[in-house]
Amino acid sequence: MTARRVIAGNWKMHKGPSETRAFLHAFDPPPSDDGVLLLLFPSALSVHAAVAERPSRLPLAIGVQNVHWEDAGAFTGEISAAMVADAGATHALVGHSERRHLFGETDEEVGRKVEAAFGHGLEPVICVGETLEERREGRLEEVLFRQVDAALAGMKDGASDFMVAYEPVWAIGTGETATPDDASDAHALLRRRIADRFGPERAQRVPLLYGGSVKPHNAGELLAASDVDGVLVGGASLDPGDFAAIAGALPPHA
Ligand code: PGA
Repeated sequence: MTARRVIAGNWKMHKGPSETRAFLHAFDPPPSDDGVLLLLFPSALSVHAAVAERPSRLPLAIGVQNVHWEDAGAFTGEISAAMVADAGATHALVGHSERRHLFGETDEEVGRKVEAAFGHGLEPVICVGETLEERREGRLEEVLFRQVDAALAGMKDGASDFMVAYEPVWAIGTGETATPDDASDAHALLRRRIADRFGPERAQRVPLLYGGSVKPHNAGELLAASDVDGVLVGGASLDPGDFAAIAGALPPHA
């Protein structure tokens, strides 16, 4: 069995509820194969609008960009996985590089957030990726293994669904894209590490997404690369036409 294929959009700090509604009215991707999941990560404030306006003809799920590991408490400004599930979202980005690098999120916190997501039936999309410096120093494997191990530290049997997004930090929002071969190499490392932990069959079913300057013009070659099951798109997911074009670039199932 192969992994589900996923076209995901991370809106970051863009689009309030009214812009979210306008996007969903305009978003009209071509029909996709069975088993393809479209996934949007609006701001937490726009989750309610996205869930309510989601066109029922599309296989579209809604997630959040971050969760706290506690269920409730004195954590001003945070949202819990419990609240996210209550609001009708089903997925959560965890450990996005902007959270790690701009807000100081640690590997250990990422692991706690993943556990909180599982605890409330949310599917985490675990983001990992190396900086340019780490890549130049030949530390790609070390960094990816450390991040993925920490994220999955609390997972006992690998039974719950999760995805991993490989997003090289140097490719996010920079217009620099990893080549399809770079993406395949990193994804193969991740698949191997997950297989070491939960067995090869389980690893085969974990969707591995590539992210970092994915655009309509390069999505096709990235999505065709081996071990790439989908993409996580930032800037180009803000435009309904561009995001639909990226979804349309997914090659039919072999
Ligand atoms: P980008 O962002 O497509 O704008 O590079 C990707 C991401 O950060 O998820």
